[in-house]
Amino acid sequence: MITKPDPAVDSAVGDLRAKGYAVASGRCGADLLRALRAEADRLVVPFAWGDRRPDFWCYESLSGDTLYRVHNLEKQPEAKRARELFEAGLLHELAAEMIGPVEATVCAMIVKTPRVAGVPWHRDRVNLPPTTGINLSVFLEDATVGNGCVEAVPGSHLLPDDADIAGVRTARPSIHLPVRAGDILVHDVRLMHASGDNAGGDLRRSIIVEFVAAQSGPR
Ligand code: NI
Repeated sequence: MITKPDPAVDSAVGDLRAKGYAVASGRCGADLLRALRAEADRLVVPFAWGDRRPDFWCYESLSGDTLYRVHNLEKQPEAKRARELFEAGLLHELAAEMIGPVEATVCAMIVKTPRVAGVPWHRDRVNLPPTTGINLSVFLEDATVGNGCVEAVPGSHLLPDDADIAGVRTARPSIHLPVRAGDILVHDVRLMHASGDNAGGDLRRSIIVEFVAAQSGPR
């Protein structure tokens, strides 16, 4: 079948290859967004009541525990829609547009509570060549500079595995990546990135699924 070229897809693929990230605007529809928010609430609220599971990753402090990640999201009983996203459909299609046949490997919810510090500069993985491992983040709320959106060094996914992050940060400019609720941020797992403090009073959550290029034949 011959399909018409889609300039938006071509440009996102070009961005991912050259810069290490791309934003697919408005890819998550309103109904799905509402459902994902509702089930995120069903996970976050019980945590506030004292529900603790090994997959609830939190900071401990004198003022109490602060949830920052629900790991293995697809295994949580409340997370039916997230499990569906992990297994098939929207995110798989987008990931395949970006890097070809893929398999989903990790699913988590990232929670940025009001007045919580950001995430330091890091790379998620360097044990894969560029453009063979990507993280897709579905934003359930707007991410702004004020509530700690992702910040990245464009092109840093192409740097060697042992590139010094502090040195690169000094030598190269970084860019903020604000997104709207329902947008999907795609970034190469090798990209140097961070997120700022959530200085305001808004909760910000995203569902993140890692995809790697599907292997053909035995590993
Ligand atoms: Ni990261």
